[in-house]
Amino acid sequence: MTNPRRDGLTSVADQSEDQRGGPGSILSRQSADHRDLDELMHAYEREPDAGARGRIVAELSERALRHAFAEETVLFPAYRRFLPAAGQDDELTRHIEGDHQQVNEMLKDLQRADPGSADYDAEVRRAFAVIRHDAHDEEDDLLPRLQQVASARQLRAIGAAWEAARLGSPTRPHPKVSRRPPGNVVAGAGLALSDRVKDVVDSLAPVGSTRRAVCGGALAGLVGAAALTVAVRAVAGRGLPARAGLGGARGPARR
Ligand SMILES: [Fe+2]
Ligand SMILES: [Fe+2]
Repeated sequence: MTNPRRDGLTSVADQSEDQRGGPGSILSRQSADHRDLDELMHAYEREPDAGARGRIVAELSERALRHAFAEETVLFPAYRRFLPAAGQDDELTRHIEGDHQQVNEMLKDLQRADPGSADYDAEVRRAFAVIRHDAHDEEDDLLPRLQQVASARQLRAIGAAWEAARLGSPTRPHPKVSRRPPGNVVAGAGLALSDRVKDVVDSLAPVGSTRRAVCGGALAGLVGAAALTVAVRAVAGRGLPARAGLGGARGPARR
């Protein structure tokens, strides 16, 4: 069911998958990932055990950071490219990047905190509030605005590039890294590799499997860096269809 607003925009939350441009479009991919993040936040809120809460936060943290990194490297540059009037000083993407920065800082602090402490729970709930606010800004404003000027085919191309960047992204918080290309892309490729090595080292199980596990993590990082390069090239213009305005159609459900 659609619910058009006075400004002509329809929240992604109120659109069918077909209106969003199909399952591969950036609108559908974002909506699905926001829902998964929301389920993890609800799982934390229902969980009484501190250790289990810590594990949920670790899972949510990796998922949210990869999601946000792919937005910063693919979705927001595509948005600024498709809506040239927005420009580099575009308020909406700058605001969301500010929220991402806050989440990076909070998740970095939480990595060092004790899940059993009262401070931990309070910080987690502050991070959840920003993550939920961020999803609303994207579903209610940014994505419907992009949808007004991009065809469904272009939304699917952006969706594929976003997914490639998500797969190749760092897995840990990096508040000191720029939230914008080219800084985040340059740093991201190396961080994706070093994060995966740290992930593997942290989860090392049997002695003797160390070398194979570390090599596997490093390989995953290299594959990720390659995927990131492909995604960034796509947004730079080599993989995306023609720019906004050239297709002429507007609003939901264009092919
Ligand atoms: Fe976001
Ligand atoms: Fe998002």
